[in-house]
Amino acid sequence: MSDRPLDRRTALASAGIAVAAMGSAACSSGADAPRAATDGSIAEDVLTRVADVPIGGGVIVGDTVVTQPVAGSFLGLSATCTHLGCRVAAIADGLIACPCHGSRYHLDGSVAAGPAPRPLDTRAIRVDGDRILRA
Ligand code: FES
Repeated sequence: MSDRPLDRRTALASAGIAVAAMGSAACSSGADAPRAATDGSIAEDVLTRVADVPIGGGVIVGDTVVTQPVAGSFLGLSATCTHLGCRVAAIADGLIACPCHGSRYHLDGSVAAGPAPRPLDTRAIRVDGDRILRA
């Protein structure tokens, strides 16, 4: 039996260990490092900017709705409709609209119309300077 297959096996095993070590190093540095936004701020809890939430309206950010019913007063609400769980999709004329069966919610989350049986759940948010974050 020649040494050649063993050499190839050894070389492949060494290469696998090297690749695994590189992957581990990449994962650990990524997991430990906080995510930074392009402006240098920490992005992980930021939902939106104060300036992006219209007075008398709101914005939908993933699973959260951020509204500003009156100037300077912000509310966090779940984006999940309380009827059958669709995600609300639009905010217009002071109402949050579910596209599935026509439920509408006021900016404080209370039901304005449709089959929704209860208000949108609240989400804890906080304002930090010009940013709105998950609390
Ligand atoms: S799931 Fe929203 S109205 Fe039915």
